[in-house]
Amino acid sequence: MSPRYPLLLDLAGRRAVVVGGGPVAVRRVGGLLDAGAVVTVVAPALCEDLAVLVEPGRVDWLAREYSPGDLDGDLAGARVVQAATDDAETNAAVAAEAEAAGIWCVRADDAERSAAWTPATVRFDDVTVAVSAGRDPRRARRLKDRIATWLQSGELPLRRVRRTPGAGHVALVGGGPGDPGLITVRGRRLLADADVVVVDRLAPRALLDELDAEVEVVEAGKGPRAHALTQLEINDLLVARAKAGQRVVRLKGGDPFVFGRGAEEALACAQAGVTCEVVPGVTSAVAVPESVGIPVTHRAVARQFTVVSAHYARAGETPDWAGLAATEGTLVFLMGVGQLPTLTEGLLRNGRPATTPVAVVERGTLPDRRTTTGTLATIAEVAAARGVRSPAVIVVGDVVDVAAELAALTAGAAEPAGLAGSAESTDRDAEGNADG
Ligand SMILES: C[S@@+](CC[C@H](N)C(=O)[O-])C[C@H]1O[C@@H](n2cnc3c(N)ncnc32)[C@H](O)[C@@H]1O
Repeated sequence: MSPRYPLLLDLAGRRAVVVGGGPVAVRRVGGLLDAGAVVTVVAPALCEDLAVLVEPGRVDWLAREYSPGDLDGDLAGARVVQAATDDAETNAAVAAEAEAAGIWCVRADDAERSAAWTPATVRFDDVTVAVSAGRDPRRARRLKDRIATWLQSGELPLRRVRRTPGAGHVALVGGGPGDPGLITVRGRRLLADADVVVVDRLAPRALLDELDAEVEVVEAGKGPRAHALTQLEINDLLVARAKAGQRVVRLKGGDPFVFGRGAEEALACAQAGVTCEVVPGVTSAVAVPESVGIPVTHRAVARQFTVVSAHYARAGETPDWAGLAATEGTLVFLMGVGQLPTLTEGLLRNGRPATTPVAVVERGTLPDRRTTTGTLATIAEVAAARGVRSPAVIVVGDVVDVAAELAALTAGAAEPAGLAGSAESTDRDAEGNADG
């Protein structure tokens, strides 16, 4: 059997005929209408779904059986015919006449004898993918569904190579805490379509490996002591590239609006008249503790949590330690590794008990993550001894103990609940002991 020849047809304004009035005909009519065809249905009776299309005049209906000679008579001018009755003889007669008249005919009842086939089709933006699978329609549909999922998730190279002229835009994409699987589907799709990606140090960098070779990657690289670009330079870059017609993805760690200066970038775009979409991300403030089994809230333990940037302590401002120490629930500190002694001292001095559990989770969700636990009295020393480094999330509160409880219950399980992907868990003892 020779391979089939695939072709896309422009049926807009052209005549298409569907013979039959049942469920198969409904599907065929739907596809033809989507393509803009002028559709005539030939059938003595219509099923309900087809009647719905005929009623408002979207489809012409010849309320009778197909008659020999129709394709030269009432149905003249048809470019394609769908033989979709439940009667093989009628379908065969339609197909034979279509063949004689040089019209492509799809036989719904007999793929072997058909001259043309309707593939399983997925459309995404301006992309059409049609799947034919060895005359096995269910197999074709399953393949098509998988392709649709990949298209939506950005796993396929959707990026336009031939650009249509027009304004570019910026997408501020929250990449999550580092594991490439924790970006949103929307974020990943925008990334797959980007011309230029302006990336932060803590963004999920593994995703950069998936980019087309022609995609430009600009390191914004903000680290504790290294700023590859200043914030102003980043803002200007985003605006300039979008104005030059490029699709810009600003790939950030966590969520763009949680200590991410995303709103400044959105404002810069708005002020310059550049379209900017903000795609939320999974914030490290919640996900990093969670990835090692620490819930930021837990029934009867903590019913609120407060996320604090410890960066201001570095900037020389005096934090409101009394206010923080008095705050109910869990305290989550970001950018706080260098501030651990100041931070613990500030909380202790203002009345938080020395025995309050503390966890420091470095590089959460990444393969080399590490957790160090202790108490407010011990953690600064333990962390220093272990050489704890940024990036890390510091969790202060009784919720830290839930991780140990969870670990004890799931010990030996292939994938402990709540600790999925965690390389290690820790036990805290009175000395502020931690895992290695
Ligand atoms: C500038 S803030 C950005 C926060 C980010 N926008 C978010 O929502 O997660 C950077 C801080 O986030 C925390 N962080 C980000 N990713 C982390 C990770 N994978 N593990 C531990 N901490 C992380 C660290 O405290 C780091 O210093």
